[in-house]
Amino acid sequence: MEQTRRSFLAAGAAGLAARETLALDGGTPAVTMPAARQAELSRWPRYGEEEKRALLEMLDSQRFYQEIPILEEDLKRHLGVPYAKAHMNGTSSLISAFFAIDVPRGSEVMAPSYTAWATTAPLHLFGLVPLFIDINPRTMTFDLEDARRKLNSRVKAVVPMHSFGNPCDMDEICAFAREHGLVVVEDAAQAQGASLQGKQVGTWGQIGCFSFQTSKILPAIEGGAGVYQTRELYERATMFGNYELPASFPEDSPYRSYAGTGMGPKFRIHPLAAAIARRQLPKIDTLNELVDRQVKQLTDRLVDLPGLSRPYTRPDARRVYWTGHMLFLDEVKAGCPKEKLVKALQAEGVRVSPGKYDEQHRYRLYSEAKWWHHPVVIPEDLPGTTQVNKTSIKLPVFYEEAGELIEQYVKAFEKVWAKRPELARS
Ligand SMILES: Cc1ncc(COP(=O)(O)O)c(C=O)c1O
Repeated sequence: MEQTRRSFLAAGAAGLAARETLALDGGTPAVTMPAARQAELSRWPRYGEEEKRALLEMLDSQRFYQEIPILEEDLKRHLGVPYAKAHMNGTSSLISAFFAIDVPRGSEVMAPSYTAWATTAPLHLFGLVPLFIDINPRTMTFDLEDARRKLNSRVKAVVPMHSFGNPCDMDEICAFAREHGLVVVEDAAQAQGASLQGKQVGTWGQIGCFSFQTSKILPAIEGGAGVYQTRELYERATMFGNYELPASFPEDSPYRSYAGTGMGPKFRIHPLAAAIARRQLPKIDTLNELVDRQVKQLTDRLVDLPGLSRPYTRPDARRVYWTGHMLFLDEVKAGCPKEKLVKALQAEGVRVSPGKYDEQHRYRLYSEAKWWHHPVVIPEDLPGTTQVNKTSIKLPVFYEEAGELIEQYVKAFEKVWAKRPELARS
């Protein structure tokens, strides 16, 4: 009954939309909300009086560094993990993790190509070599079937990345890793607050890495953290980039005697960033819920349109969103090229972009053997990755109630979709 009513209403809306002139052809844009208000709804990061007060108090106090262990305690409590170390950024948390796992030089590390540099580029610093794994085009995340096909005796670790906040199948990936004796380092930089079976991402693997960079879900302008399931991993990761902290390790720590040097780098988080991160942490769950509810409100309507679908999230997962939300646009089912539809939507005032994202295996660094213990295999084709980059479009997310704008977005999509045949011919 409800479905019939929805189809009837949708047909009515489509009829109306078909009579309207596209903004591309001089018609009135469907999105009428003033640009400044739209920008405000998506403004990120969001700092308020609490963050300002914390920074000013720190500057006045002449006491700076105590914020760091407090943030680490907060992170441990929030994530339910035994060990946490705040780092200068997400990249330094990953670099420390690659040192901490202590696998032999020449080991291969399975990781998606569909990720940021920091997931794979630093591996060469430790004589490790990435083995690029495809993503599942339904979820945009680590394709375990491809990993099973590519497994070889040199593989010692796996780095799943929760793309744009969608959790990887961590239960299955961890079972696979256990079966083959692999270490799991989760790159949770894009997914703070996401979970699978009620267990937060970053806490499934032996190490979880987070980024607190400006665009991220827990933004501290620059910053990051690693969380560790064992004391050994925590001490190694901490010793690598903190010359002074080994002195605080227990007497029986094999790393205590590295106090004074660590391994050379200094990866300590800036205390001002720690102060911001600490104030943002209690707010992320509420904001993640608001964003998710509004993404669903919009996409529940848009996926009725031919050719539009959303990434699959398992029913036992809670996903979050980093920098926007992706939809997949199948040109064949839509009957019109993505480029033309995106252009027409943009003319209607929708802040939509082609959702193309990084493919690490295409960068120069990986193709030059001189940087690597042994040459990186550059995959000829990663069909899941190619499909996602070909079909995805990206829409903004809203950090305030945005019902009015969501209605205007739906209207814009319906208007453009009603004109697909003309657009396709143009
Ligand atoms: C998946 C992923 N890993 C790691 C990082 C690196 O984090 P940071 O910028 O804090 O160094 C990023 C940053 O965008 C990321 O997206």
